[in-house]
Amino acid sequence: MRHLMSPLDLSVPELEKILDLASDIEKNPKKYAHTCDDKRLATLFYEPSTRTRLSFEAAMMNLGGKVLGFSSADSSSAAKGETVADTIRVVSCYADICAMRHPKEGAPLVASMVSNIPVINAGDGGHQHPTQTLTDLLTIRSLKGRLDNLTIGLCGDLKFGRTVHSLIEALVRYQNVKFVLISPEELRIPSYIREDVLKKNNIEFVEVERLEDAIPDLDILYMTRVQKERFFNEEDYVRMKDFYILDNQKLSLAKDDMYILHPLPRVNEIAVEVDKDPRAAYFKQVQYGVYVRMALILTLLEVELPC
Ligand code: CP
Repeated sequence: MRHLMSPLDLSVPELEKILDLASDIEKNPKKYAHTCDDKRLATLFYEPSTRTRLSFEAAMMNLGGKVLGFSSADSSSAAKGETVADTIRVVSCYADICAMRHPKEGAPLVASMVSNIPVINAGDGGHQHPTQTLTDLLTIRSLKGRLDNLTIGLCGDLKFGRTVHSLIEALVRYQNVKFVLISPEELRIPSYIREDVLKKNNIEFVEVERLEDAIPDLDILYMTRVQKERFFNEEDYVRMKDFYILDNQKLSLAKDDMYILHPLPRVNEIAVEVDKDPRAAYFKQVQYGVYVRMALILTLLEVELPC
């Protein structure tokens, strides 16, 4: 039995296999419509979510399976003090696979250690968000046709943005990927990513503050929101929240084939006027998230695939 805690739990060939399967699901959705007819997915969300929870549920329903779960800690027995470890033991009796989001880093890992069913980390604190990474990789590969030879700008809250941490860890395994890390001083990438992931793997990267200076060189611009829920005080958040706003004027400096990604939700960091630009790919990215989660569920459940 396998769990998914980090993108690094998958080797590059395994990752490619999941992306290939997701692309086949995109082209031939009907082929997979009954592959999970007798399966159940539990979504255990101790923290708010729109995309991740609903896309997991849509993914399982598209495969013919059923879903159950809770969408906040308050509506589960966590509110009475039940531990994550006890909860997953109980849920293992009701479901075949589980996606868990939790505000505490490592909570899905604790669950996986006692679980009888595969556990997928659907976001743990400011740490990792591996299924968003699978979504991002599928989006980039589908739009650019490759995951190597790319210059990727990551902009915004690089300190608390777990999607950024997971994406960097996954992309350093591809050839000639360069990073431009665009953030204010206070929201720079954590040192463990800078030292243990980027420097250790001899990855080319620069850290800059001005988006306007970086944007002309990029193949992908990955915008992120400032993670309000991870700040210790409101004052710091208010000071940081509108540090970057991508608008049509800034976008005019970018290449014609640079795509804009964002894990969403968006707050103010991308002006609504940008949505009409053909390079705005963040809503397409949402759709890719369903295909890739379908592929992941099939893979972790070791379902025999239709010919
Ligand atoms: N991208 C993402 O994780 O969105 P949600 O918080 O809505 O799940």
